[in-house]
Amino acid sequence: MTDHVESYAPGEGRLPPRADFRSDAPRLSLNGDWAFRLTPTAAGTGPDVADPDLDDSGWDRLRVPSHWVLEGYDRPLYTNTAYPFPIDPPHVPAQNPTGDYRRRFDWPFGERAVLRFQGVDSCARVWLNGTELGHSKGSRLPFEFDVTGLLRPAGNVLAVRVHRWSSGSYLEDQDMWWLPGIFRDVELLARPSSAIDDFFVHASYLDGRGTLRVDADRPGIVELPELGVRMPTGETVTVPVEPWSAERPRLYRGTLTAGGERIALAVGFRTVSIVDGRLLVNGVPVLFRGVNRHEHDPERGRALDLATMRRDVVLMKQHNINAVRTSHYPPHPDFLRLCDEYGLWVVDECDIETHGFIYAGWAGNPPAEPAWRDALADRIERMVERDKNHPSVVVWSMGNESWSGATFGELESWIRKRDPSRPIHYERDRSYRHSDFASLMYPSLDELDAIGRGEEPTPEGVEAGSPDDVRRRGLPFLLCEYAHAMGNGPGSLLDYQRILEAHERFCGAFVWEWIDHGLRAPDGGLLHGGDVDYTPNGGRYCLDGLLFADRTPSPGLLEYAKAIEPVVITIADGRVWLRNRYDMADLSHLRLEWTVGHEVGTLTVPHVPARTSASLPLPELPDGDWLTVRAVLAADTAWAPAGHVVAWGQAELAPPRPVDWPRGGFSGVRFDPETGQLVRLGDLEIGGPVLDVWRAPVENDRGQGFRNDLTRAWRAVGLDRVLHRVDEVRTGDDRVVVRGRSGPAGQALGLRTEMCWEPAGDGAVALTVTVTPEGIWTDTPIGGHDVTLPRLGLRLALPAGLTRATWFGRGPGESYVDSRAAARVGRFTAEIDALQTPYPWPQENGNHVETRWLELTGDGQPGLRVEGDPWFDFTARRWTSEDLDRATKPSQLRPSERVWLNVDHGQQGLGSASCGPPLPQRYRLPIRPYTFRVRLAGWG
Ligand code: GAL
Repeated sequence: MTDHVESYAPGEGRLPPRADFRSDAPRLSLNGDWAFRLTPTAAGTGPDVADPDLDDSGWDRLRVPSHWVLEGYDRPLYTNTAYPFPIDPPHVPAQNPTGDYRRRFDWPFGERAVLRFQGVDSCARVWLNGTELGHSKGSRLPFEFDVTGLLRPAGNVLAVRVHRWSSGSYLEDQDMWWLPGIFRDVELLARPSSAIDDFFVHASYLDGRGTLRVDADRPGIVELPELGVRMPTGETVTVPVEPWSAERPRLYRGTLTAGGERIALAVGFRTVSIVDGRLLVNGVPVLFRGVNRHEHDPERGRALDLATMRRDVVLMKQHNINAVRTSHYPPHPDFLRLCDEYGLWVVDECDIETHGFIYAGWAGNPPAEPAWRDALADRIERMVERDKNHPSVVVWSMGNESWSGATFGELESWIRKRDPSRPIHYERDRSYRHSDFASLMYPSLDELDAIGRGEEPTPEGVEAGSPDDVRRRGLPFLLCEYAHAMGNGPGSLLDYQRILEAHERFCGAFVWEWIDHGLRAPDGGLLHGGDVDYTPNGGRYCLDGLLFADRTPSPGLLEYAKAIEPVVITIADGRVWLRNRYDMADLSHLRLEWTVGHEVGTLTVPHVPARTSASLPLPELPDGDWLTVRAVLAADTAWAPAGHVVAWGQAELAPPRPVDWPRGGFSGVRFDPETGQLVRLGDLEIGGPVLDVWRAPVENDRGQGFRNDLTRAWRAVGLDRVLHRVDEVRTGDDRVVVRGRSGPAGQALGLRTEMCWEPAGDGAVALTVTVTPEGIWTDTPIGGHDVTLPRLGLRLALPAGLTRATWFGRGPGESYVDSRAAARVGRFTAEIDALQTPYPWPQENGNHVETRWLELTGDGQPGLRVEGDPWFDFTARRWTSEDLDRATKPSQLRPSERVWLNVDHGQQGLGSASCGPPLPQRYRLPIRPYTFRVRLAGWG
């Protein structure tokens, strides 16, 4: 009997959905080792799986929760939009890996009990002691069976048959790994007679007072001792309270008692409303500075433990993130408990995505087909019922990228009736008829600004001036995805933030996405989709997070933390200006510290209410070049200790000195008479410099498919294969002038170069580089577009004995022209090896913009000092850009015999074109003449 696998029915035999809660009634976790056998079809091991007497001693053991594909059985598959099986709804292929699970347990806790599965991917059929309980689909949602009367004190046998594919898979086409198995907790809950099974906490806030009513399916007593509340369910009380917010997550803990059971309550009073096109919480506007979070762990997939969930929440709080969209399914319920406790606004998204129907021209799309109605409604109801009591959940999202269909109207009506207290989001239906928000993904900066001004074009399929068009313009706008964090990037986070804060219509934005979905490979490296030989395949597209898969913050996360910092600190006119970007909090929880060089001091934090500014005079400061003012936590919090930096600003104290390099005669400098390249600088052996216009493309250089693929254009004109010619080396006492031309093989276009060397005191040389393009710089073979340069600068080969970089400029982390806010100006030292950011797909990394000077040194080794006029970009690594470009895994990068130093006039920005708009022109290097200067000196 496998009909249920392909039926439209969401399940059978299950209890109605209800709130997820903790109580003092006995609870038995059935997590742990289960007997397990994987078979290739839905028939599984056959009908005997249910037989309590079946001898399963020869079966394997599998830990629960887990995904069997990450425990050595079958394999994980990754697709972005495509279904990994034919679009033939509701059918799935006969090749349907099926895992049979069995577990024995004792139950000394009485008759009445409920068996709960928190999440099984994708379809489970369940038997207890030989009796079939039913089945369920909807992977990321709980289901329960009433097992009253079926349990015995000892020797119970629970059997679960889990199918990798089912009709439910058609509703679960999110861009992520397909990971089957019992991947969340299994538990048995004793249910005392006349105990409450479901309740709904209604806790609103207005003007200093909270109003509470708890509705329940049976009478009970509500107690919140801190508020002196003791009342029956169904009654309403209004008391003075502190409101709940993501900034101050004030929870009132208490109990709900009935039938001898005490249920734990964590009540947060807050009111969500939309007034005049603005999203308000507790009467004031909020701005989500958010991320899209998938549940991911490189070893465990979506089977996250509590510590990992807490780690996510703590990392978000530490990086100034105040909101999370649970893309694209309800998370483990403990994650929402943590959001209540630590303070994060949550957009709770339902486990609905039918993206793959795009390949059928959306024919048969489930939300438009009545046959799927119950399956969709089932998911919405299970989400809302499970999560309705969390103060952190402020918006329901009906799902992701499922186009449109009449069923969305029904889902919307059901939610509005069941929970009128929260607005509803759905992005992909451009009429927004069923959404309380206008919403889009990945607009360009200009498009976003137009939206802010209310001047966006009417969406395709909507008539201009129609009621839908007019209504949409009056809705708050929620940017549910932007800033695709694939590989090195995203760029423009600060640009986006400025726009998001400039217009009242915006209620916030969610970066795509929180964490890379890399899976641990047997050799310790990471796998992406493309490492699994299967078609269709989403390839590396799953590596697009602000955290690396092992939860190390990427430079993108640091940039985001800076772009959204809750206090903007600027120093001007002898004063420190503080712009409070909190929506509710003042700054009394912060301390202000200043540093100049090694001197430090504190400033008194003035009273700055939310969303206002204030300033204070600068104190007497010691001499120095740069002043840094930091806002740090004044006291320990649940997510960071006192002293944790939440915001900072800088100012240059002394006006920048004009660059004035000494002159003199060449001494200790040797040039190659043929190539005009440097050979020696004092005792330092040097190779180069040569003009360099290539970088190992970052993911965002590749665009999305054919859209915005700069790499293709670069390769079409041959920027990856530039060859050099020297026309003339003119040597004089006070200058050496080298003229030449660099051009790609097979092309007539090129760059004429003049490198003019002059002595610059103390054995140093000043180099003036003039670059003049010639020929027509279009990617003629592929599109005829103007080409811009990935980088423009100089590449030098230096002895491998150089190990350390010390520089004055932006640091300590990497920076690019459109991602440099997080890098402060200062003096930094790092090992050259530590300057590399280990992107799992090797690509350009480790750049430093606005470098004033740089020294490379090594023990017992002559070093190099580079000075800019005034600035340069640098990267230093033990492999070349070509090596980086060729490598497909970090482990393939092997140190060469040289340190390769790039001293660049500039590099193009990063952008986020791997999903989204093209890189803005201002962050590119157009083809035009350039002149720049640097000074090189031997050092040490
Ligand atoms: C969005 C989608 C996400 C993800 C992203 C690209 O369209 O909602 O799930 O696929 O694009 O990484």
